[in-house]
Amino acid sequence: MTNIAIFASGSGSNAENIATYFKDNSECGVKLILSNKIDAFVHERAKKLCIPSFTFTKAEFDDGVEIVEILREYEIDFIVLAGFLLKVSKPILDAYPGRIVNIHPALLPKHGGKGMYGDRVHQAVLDAGETESGITIHYINEHYDEGSIIFQASCNVETGDNAETLAARVHELEYLHFPHVIESLLKEHK
Ligand code: GRF
Repeated sequence: MTNIAIFASGSGSNAENIATYFKDNSECGVKLILSNKIDAFVHERAKKLCIPSFTFTKAEFDDGVEIVEILREYEIDFIVLAGFLLKVSKPILDAYPGRIVNIHPALLPKHGGKGMYGDRVHQAVLDAGETESGITIHYINEHYDEGSIIFQASCNVETGDNAETLAARVHELEYLHFPHVIESLLKEHK
């Protein structure tokens, strides 16, 4: 069994979508949800899915020791960041080399980096007059949004789009592709 942990800071709709996708899979599944926000809606989703979820502080995250202990306790093999806002600390990167992936709601290398999350990304895409946006699934390294790209899918930016309408279109791509990409990565890592 390959065990996945998801890190999320907010709503967690991707976390729920991924957990549901693997629900009846006998080879892999989402075993743990971790967040840096105690009031993040992802905890409600975790409860509904009967997946344990915990909150940590930024200091605990940067230190890494306790978090790596929890990950080991739950026998986590692979980490997925889905709407997670902190930069992954070195102890966690070192504990899971090549086994941490993130999804970014735009076509990297454009519109990424520190402070580029949520609607800020979509607004930047609109302000730049892009005709396309999309999703980027990439490995995590010590820099924001700079790890090697695994997968991208694009969608049109429509006339009259605002950050909300564009976000909804990008979310559809995330729901469609992210679980499949994770599944094929897990097969590769076996
Ligand atoms: C997603 O668009 C993801 O790409 C970005 O943050 C958003 C999180 O949405 N990093 P949700 O919490 O999964 O609903």
